[in-house]
Amino acid sequence: MYRPNRIVIDPVSVLADMKEKDFERRLFLFEFLTRMKSWNLLVLLTGEFTIESLKESPLGYLSDAMIHISETITGDKSERHLIVVKMRGRKYVQGRHSYKISSHGMTVFPRLLPELDINRPASTLRVSSGVEGLDRMLTGGLLKDDVILFSGSPGTGKTIFGLHFINEGATKGEPCLIISFEEWPQKIIRNARAFGWDFEEHQKKNLVKFIYFPPALFNADEHAVMIKEFILKNNVKRVFFDGVENLIIALSDAIKRREYVHSLVDHFSSNGITTLLTNELPELFGTIRLTIEDLSGCVDTVILLRQVEVEGQMKKALSILKSRGSDHDKEIREFEITNKGIEVKVAIKGYENVLAGMARKPPAEIFREMFGGNQ
Ligand SMILES: Nc1ncnc2c1ncn2[C@@H]1O[C@H](COP(=O)(O)OP(=O)(O)OP(=O)(O)O)[C@@H](O)[C@H]1O
Ligand SMILES: [Mg+2]
Repeated sequence: MYRPNRIVIDPVSVLADMKEKDFERRLFLFEFLTRMKSWNLLVLLTGEFTIESLKESPLGYLSDAMIHISETITGDKSERHLIVVKMRGRKYVQGRHSYKISSHGMTVFPRLLPELDINRPASTLRVSSGVEGLDRMLTGGLLKDDVILFSGSPGTGKTIFGLHFINEGATKGEPCLIISFEEWPQKIIRNARAFGWDFEEHQKKNLVKFIYFPPALFNADEHAVMIKEFILKNNVKRVFFDGVENLIIALSDAIKRREYVHSLVDHFSSNGITTLLTNELPELFGTIRLTIEDLSGCVDTVILLRQVEVEGQMKKALSILKSRGSDHDKEIREFEITNKGIEVKVAIKGYENVLAGMARKPPAEIFREMFGGNQ
């Protein structure tokens, strides 16, 4: 006689539906499942149920494990999720996980959890950002496990700062990862070449890897699994995540977005990785605010980049807003993008309102210029 090890009944609800009355259906399922349990087989049942209806059904209390799968549609994007409702005798990760069905079958992407080791060490080692003047402003460079955010309006040089940072690491033989939503690998390679940085060579030597996802195709759990696997395999030392604000479009659920950003950067830090994030500020002029409010708590250093109008000329300015665990330069400094990359220059002195984008001399200074003397 053929004795299988596994049985799949797909869907089990059809068998129960053959009974007319609710009471009969419950009784049928009860008898069916208790008999099956005595066979000592692995049985997989499927059916269309809600989590609530299962809790009241014999299927709910007689099964050893219950997994609820569903598909949600947000805008034009459809996402599949899986929740372990019950799992007897073993631990499992709670919450919603993503899964994908493709020609390779089904792939599950467990959700990213925050690091739980509160006693993990914190590094005192410094690493270079690649920009000498910025290292000086940060009293010797970045702390090795820090998360640094460059925030600025479009065209202020955020991506170039990031590429500088990665080129520095890859040149020293450190494996690096670039995560982007806007610029795809070949475009980054081309743009870097203008500064004499050979990212194609870094890529060939397996020192730079790109993970590029257009926001419309983004799936947070899949992205996180891909990043974690790469970090584990390649002993990554530096990560550059360009355009974090794209997550607002890519991941519309604000809670999930916050969880994703926090657990990802936490994962980088606890693996001793230096992380550089960039975030676009919407206004060219005006008040400063971080677009992704979720970011403020999880970054150690915040650097603001601005285009500033100084006496009719547009200049680029940089200032360190905060730097946890170390002293830093408090000046607002001018910087220039040259064909060798970024060069930090002198402090912009004698002006106020610089970070709002419109530098102007204080009234006392104007008075002195007009009438001379010490006002
Ligand atoms: N080869 C180059 N030489 C000198 N300056 C350059 C060169 N390439 C770009 N720039 C300057 O850098 C700016 C773009 O820098 P970058 O791409 O890093 O800005 P960004 O802040 O990342 O912009 P976005 O928000 O659009 O992504 C340009 O506006 C230009 O001023
Ligand atoms: Mg950019």
